[in-house]
Amino acid sequence: MKPEPETIIRNFQKILHGADYNPDQWLDVPEVIDEDFRLMRVAGCNTFALGIFAWTSYEPEEGNYRFDWLQGIMDRMASQGNKVILATPSGSKPAWMSKRYPEIRRVNALGLRDPHTRRHNHCWSSRIFREKVRSINTELGRRFGNHPALGMWHVSNEYQGHCYCDGCLNAFYQWLEKRYGDLDSLNRAWWSTFWNHTFTAWDEIHPGDASLDGMQVDWLRFNSWQIGDFYQFETQPLKAFSPEIPCTTNFMTLSPRIDYGYLSQFVDVVSDDQYPRFDPDDTKLVEQAARIALKHDLYRCFKPGKPWFLMESCPGHPQWIKPNRLKRPGMHRLEMLQAIAHGAEGTCYFQWRKGRGGFEKFHGAVVDHDQNEQNRVFRSVVELGALYTKLTPVLGSRVRARAALIFDWEVRWNFETSRGPASENDAYQRVAVDHYQSLWKRSISVDVLRREQDFSAYDLLILPQTWALTDDFTSRLTEFVRRGGTVVATHYTGITNDTNLCYTGGFPGNGLREVFGIVDEEQDCLHSDEVRKIDPADRNELGLTGSMTASEVCSVLHLEGADALATFASDFYAGSAAITVNTFGDGRAYYVGARLSPEDVSQFYDKLIQTTGVVESVVPFRHPEGINIQRRSTSDHDYYFVQNFTDSSHKLPMKGLHWKRVEDGAEITTELEIHPFESQVYSCRSTQRS
Ligand code: GAL
Repeated sequence: MKPEPETIIRNFQKILHGADYNPDQWLDVPEVIDEDFRLMRVAGCNTFALGIFAWTSYEPEEGNYRFDWLQGIMDRMASQGNKVILATPSGSKPAWMSKRYPEIRRVNALGLRDPHTRRHNHCWSSRIFREKVRSINTELGRRFGNHPALGMWHVSNEYQGHCYCDGCLNAFYQWLEKRYGDLDSLNRAWWSTFWNHTFTAWDEIHPGDASLDGMQVDWLRFNSWQIGDFYQFETQPLKAFSPEIPCTTNFMTLSPRIDYGYLSQFVDVVSDDQYPRFDPDDTKLVEQAARIALKHDLYRCFKPGKPWFLMESCPGHPQWIKPNRLKRPGMHRLEMLQAIAHGAEGTCYFQWRKGRGGFEKFHGAVVDHDQNEQNRVFRSVVELGALYTKLTPVLGSRVRARAALIFDWEVRWNFETSRGPASENDAYQRVAVDHYQSLWKRSISVDVLRREQDFSAYDLLILPQTWALTDDFTSRLTEFVRRGGTVVATHYTGITNDTNLCYTGGFPGNGLREVFGIVDEEQDCLHSDEVRKIDPADRNELGLTGSMTASEVCSVLHLEGADALATFASDFYAGSAAITVNTFGDGRAYYVGARLSPEDVSQFYDKLIQTTGVVESVVPFRHPEGINIQRRSTSDHDYYFVQNFTDSSHKLPMKGLHWKRVEDGAEITTELEIHPFESQVYSCRSTQRS
């Protein structure tokens, strides 16, 4: 018999499907809770996150714990065969605690202590807060660590934010001392002679000052370190009582200020809160889908070979997206299956039931205020639950990619804190999406990696604006190309080291000038309404044709061995190279020295792939734009997730493929028809080598 695949929750061979459940809001209406348990069965939901904001219900006064209600809910979950992702409640501290121990409240950059408002706002270094967290987590671990319903620990909620109290500043100084050793080294690393910032004592440093960009990057790094440290502190008692139960903390997609790549090393399971908002009337839906696909692939690659899942999403419309347009029919399935297609093995919701009051009373939920199981949103959850049962064989399957793209918070921070370059308006992510979606449009699998991950075994490596380098990254990249790899880099590659100090001696720096055979001498940042034309060079080896358009930034390149594939057609740099290729060792290094339009980026990859065959689509046919096919494979089967992100029906030629539709077993051999915004899943015997 085939061994059962490793699943997110041990020995639970199901796609996780459930929601954040807050019965603590309904304890005085027990019939509502009874109805919840009935509806959970109807909905086909199997996993529930409990107690995320329940600290005061557990500990109404200091040291006086009450877990009876939770015990009752956990027991009912177990008897219904559901799993619980039990939260530690530090995401929102009790009001009595804020009042008695003001030091647990955060201090802002101006030195003012926050009042007790909202949530996610405790000080990271407060000794008292840590003691309180340890006590409550110990109680939870002791009482529920061996409960049969417990599947996973949900540590806190969406850790975020900075605290500038003396304790946190001191922790920052200690962290800096460990990193730099002494102030002389720190001053050199930050270029602190600039504007007379030279520090002669650690406590002269204040991270609220934006004038030293190296310091800004270190403050963000430190904050991620603080979060990682807090997470590990929180998990100690949980691990002590239940070493076998995985721990996670829910991340927030591509949040600009927290390095989830760094944090992913601490969690046992990667989980994300992603609220897609696919709207059939949105002309940018396809681009948005590609953007989310990139994020999903990044999350999939945080722990290569292991499944991840959506801790939060929404079957209806979140109340914070304006206007509160209803989620159109089909969109929920489209969004959820997109995550599964990219390696997720669960999609859960915020929230199970709409509350009657508070900020989120109109936030979408499985159970609406009408409590009606015929409700359209509820039915969409029921249908998805039924499909997930049929998709169980997908558990344990993996995506195999020959192309990798680097997306890294350290690079992003160095880029975005630098004044001058065209780094605003989310430029780091936008350029990454332009390149990623060129492959996504052709249904080519892509692994999205951080800089420190191993990319040596791929055939194609894409570096969108890899602004900051480390020596280690540079040498692995050089080796990758020397040994025959193909790399595509863009403008703003290799500008600084990791403390945002510019390389001297020509960009791309740190030796990459030789790999690419160019010097990127100047970068022209354009007004938002300006463009420059780029013309393909005669008989260029990729066969690029037609005029291309650049916006935002154009690099003025000098060739040092590379060939020009295209040149600028206007401005003082008319005639100089815009896109180049260099042979280095056995490999090829392409440089795209401008922000090309997404269509032109796509043309570039189309030609590159046609000419060199460096990577290939998961299907042997070309499909219309807006269709995406992802493949997940086990040792003997391939699963194809076919999704239509357009408002037209399309017929795809099967070209000799024999696929079986997972939902109804229908065999498809000649033509596959996919309707507007439809998602279908197929299986077939594997043809790939592992
Ligand atoms: C998340 C949060 C949830 C809920 C949700 C609403 O950021 O973790 O508790 O507030 O947003 O969309």
